[in-house]
Amino acid sequence: MVCPAPAAVIVLAAGAGTRMKSRTPKVLHPIAGRSLLMHAVTAARGAEPKELVVVVRHERDQVAEHLEASDAAVLVADQDEVPGTGRAVQCGLEKVTASEGTVLVTYGDVPLLDAPTLRELTEVHEDSGAAVTVLTAHVDDPTGYGRILRSDDGSEVLGIVEHKDADETQRAIHEINSGIYAFDLAVLRRALDEVTTDNAQGEMYLTDVLAIARAHGGAVRALVTGDAMLVEGANNRVQLAQLGKELNRRILERHMRAGVTIIDPDTTWIDADVQIGQDTTIRPGVQLHGATVIGQDAQVGPDSTLIDTRVDDGAQVVRTESHGAVIGAGATVGPFTYLRPGTVLGESGKIGGFCETKNAVIGPKAKVPHLSYVGDAEIGEGTNIGAATIFANYDGVNKHRTTVGKHVRVGSDNVLVAPVAIGDGAATGAGTTVRKDIPPGALAVNAVSQRNVEGWTMRRRAGTAAEQAARAALDAAGQTPGSGQDDKEREQR
Ligand code: UD1
Ligand code: CA
Repeated sequence: MVCPAPAAVIVLAAGAGTRMKSRTPKVLHPIAGRSLLMHAVTAARGAEPKELVVVVRHERDQVAEHLEASDAAVLVADQDEVPGTGRAVQCGLEKVTASEGTVLVTYGDVPLLDAPTLRELTEVHEDSGAAVTVLTAHVDDPTGYGRILRSDDGSEVLGIVEHKDADETQRAIHEINSGIYAFDLAVLRRALDEVTTDNAQGEMYLTDVLAIARAHGGAVRALVTGDAMLVEGANNRVQLAQLGKELNRRILERHMRAGVTIIDPDTTWIDADVQIGQDTTIRPGVQLHGATVIGQDAQVGPDSTLIDTRVDDGAQVVRTESHGAVIGAGATVGPFTYLRPGTVLGESGKIGGFCETKNAVIGPKAKVPHLSYVGDAEIGEGTNIGAATIFANYDGVNKHRTTVGKHVRVGSDNVLVAPVAIGDGAATGAGTTVRKDIPPGALAVNAVSQRNVEGWTMRRRAGTAAEQAARAALDAAGQTPGSGQDDKEREQR
């Protein structure tokens, strides 16, 4: 069966959201890596409407800019100075070109509402031929919500009364208006013309449309959701955190049901758009943000934060912070590793403990195993970078690139001063400072040659534990501390 597509969805986002106590408009606060508004728009898109309108007013430019950047096909409607949800929808309808069909109304601050619920609402509404179908829920504490007024036998919805306008009996009703509806477009347009601001808040109530539609002979129905979280709004930061946590729980459950092992859902945070392949394991303390994509059979964590990062099949990422990196299949990263934008690690490569990389393309099977900084570099296949090597890419004014060929052996504690190139199959000694290009196959060494000043500790550190240790070692080896005459002279020079 083909699901019915509504003519339009109108998302209301003109309200001030003062209880957030924020300079950022409420609907732009994010959970699970997306603004509240983009959660609402994504759900609305999933209902496949012909037109999608967002009604704005408070901080209108910021909200409109955000929409333009996130979904340019959204139509932005401005609410005028007349307050209320009814007026908001009326302003939204000015952007809707259709004259018949179903219009859904949703809120920009209800982030858990999903496309399947909107599709079900559309379907139930169109199947019943009702003028209005309102999505309702039974809640323990209905304070503040509009209450659903039903006929004596409960089969019909007579209307909605706002909390502020309700009497004691009506306030005892626990079935609430979610604020999400399916309307017959023509009925909605006509009914809104009759809505006034004659109520406790002096607002044009959208809820008045229900009684008006009935008065015109239309049927009003309710779709009751058993999942009250779906329709909950975020009004303050306490609710924002609660909804963020619940959304995260749902995202994790979706991944687990799709074949991802998540060892500890209580300490794992995964944004809405993250993708994870089958049989991948996510260990405790992991946050996966933004456009992160993880392949199959990978292992991530414990204690890792990956932002806009790609991890290919079978890779292992341990205690790592990564922004905008690509980690090849079968590669290993960590522990205590910081990958910055432009890092591309080849298949079966390695970036080990206490390394930082940036703008660095590291070839397949190449290794940067310990304590290194690799910035603005290209490293060829199979090359090994010795422990504590620094790619000195910055001369204080400009950044320069370093190129290291294939199967190169860079010794420990090297400084590669960019711009510089090391040819394929070349090598460097420990402690080399590479300032000149090295041809393929050459060995570069420039460390100062070592001399030993024998007996130095006995003369200069007499009476210390070091002297005792040195004497004992020499005694045990049957050696005496050298006369040290030559050494002494050289030492004095
Ligand atoms: C509204 C309903 C109430 C329902 C509740 C569910 C009315 C009159 N009341 O309450 O029955 O139980 O939602 O949360 O509709 N908005 C605008 N322009 C406005 C006013 C509001 O765009 O002039 C938007 C807000 O940004 C928000 C949504 O509409 O996204 C709801 O506004 P809010 O003030 O939170 O709802 P209430 O009017 O209290
Ligand atoms: Ca209000």
